[in-house]
Amino acid sequence: MKQTILVTGGTGFIGSHTTVELQNAGYEVVIVDNLSNSNEKVLDGIEKITGIRPAFEKVDCCDYDGMERVFKKYPGIQGIIHFAASKAVGESVEKPLMYYRNNLTSLINLLELMPIYQVKGIIFSSSCTVYGQPSIENLPVTEDAPIQKAMSPYGNTKQINEEIIQDYIHSGAPVKSIILRYFNPIGAHPSALIGELPNGVPMNLIPFVTQTAMGIREQLKIFGNDYDTPDHTCIRDYIYVVDLAKAHVKAMERVLDHPETEAVEVFNIGTGRGLSTLEVVEGFEKATGVKVNWTYAPRREGDIEKVWGNVDKANKVLGWKADTPTDEVLRSAWKWQQKLREDGIQ
Ligand code: UD1
Repeated sequence: MKQTILVTGGTGFIGSHTTVELQNAGYEVVIVDNLSNSNEKVLDGIEKITGIRPAFEKVDCCDYDGMERVFKKYPGIQGIIHFAASKAVGESVEKPLMYYRNNLTSLINLLELMPIYQVKGIIFSSSCTVYGQPSIENLPVTEDAPIQKAMSPYGNTKQINEEIIQDYIHSGAPVKSIILRYFNPIGAHPSALIGELPNGVPMNLIPFVTQTAMGIREQLKIFGNDYDTPDHTCIRDYIYVVDLAKAHVKAMERVLDHPETEAVEVFNIGTGRGLSTLEVVEGFEKATGVKVNWTYAPRREGDIEKVWGNVDKANKVLGWKADTPTDEVLRSAWKWQQKLREDGIQ
């Protein structure tokens, strides 16, 4: 029988897709989420896709006693995937203490509780933001590239949390961890039963593209057309959220079922390919047949010019590869946007 996994932030964008893949792989899932940036209805979508409704507890991971109650109620939890975090870069600049409190306290609580409740492993959601702008000889960026000073409190919480995990495990704590550094997660489940639900005006590219295509936003601004890239727009490594979710299943298997591996490991999770903002917008139009009203606008402050991942380590060691074609990914995002319209949500 497969183990029970605690998924914090399991009603969020990546958490919900990962819950689906864990359940498909036979794991039992307990979701903990404070619903600060998600909706309990996501559980219905997960249930429709997998036929299984995951256990759900509305608890804030910063609440130590609340989390302890969860571990007592579900004594078989073997592993944790920790998604729950505040993630808006701009907001983190305005409310740094909120970001440090939420993102650091929740991880510390989980790490403290793990040995008490014999939880063996934790997968941590980190970000390629830790690399900042890699130098040109470091592109595509590998896991060994230097970590650069974070450009926002949000980015800093990812770096500090990686260090907290490393320090804790090096102190001899009886737990293992895999740190996954995601590039830019996009798309939605092909069923359109779960997807990304941005709060207010989207900051990320794809939700802005799909909302513009839907007529919710008048015009997409492509930030900057004077970058040192072939078409002068920024380059990112856009990873399909379902492929990303599957990487977590591989990471969990490795942490729980392979005692011979290092106690803490780091993997880039991306496609290994860079796409420019313009290529994404044009690719969306081509894949869906829907026009997007867009214009060039000045650079957005704090944007990295170009970054994409070297994902050889994840390919070889985890036996995982992002293999969904980009046009399919972009169509999934559009199908999700259409579903939101059908349901009267957006
Ligand atoms: C952002 C965060 C990063 C986080 C990631 C999660 C910043 C600086 N970084 O990455 O820490 O891990 O989201 O997904 O915010 N773009 C436009 N017009 C738009 C929106 C975006 O041109 O309306 C461009 C951006 O300039 C960028 C690209 O699209 O070049 C991707 O932007 P976005 O989706 O916001 O992700 P990142 O900025 O890469």
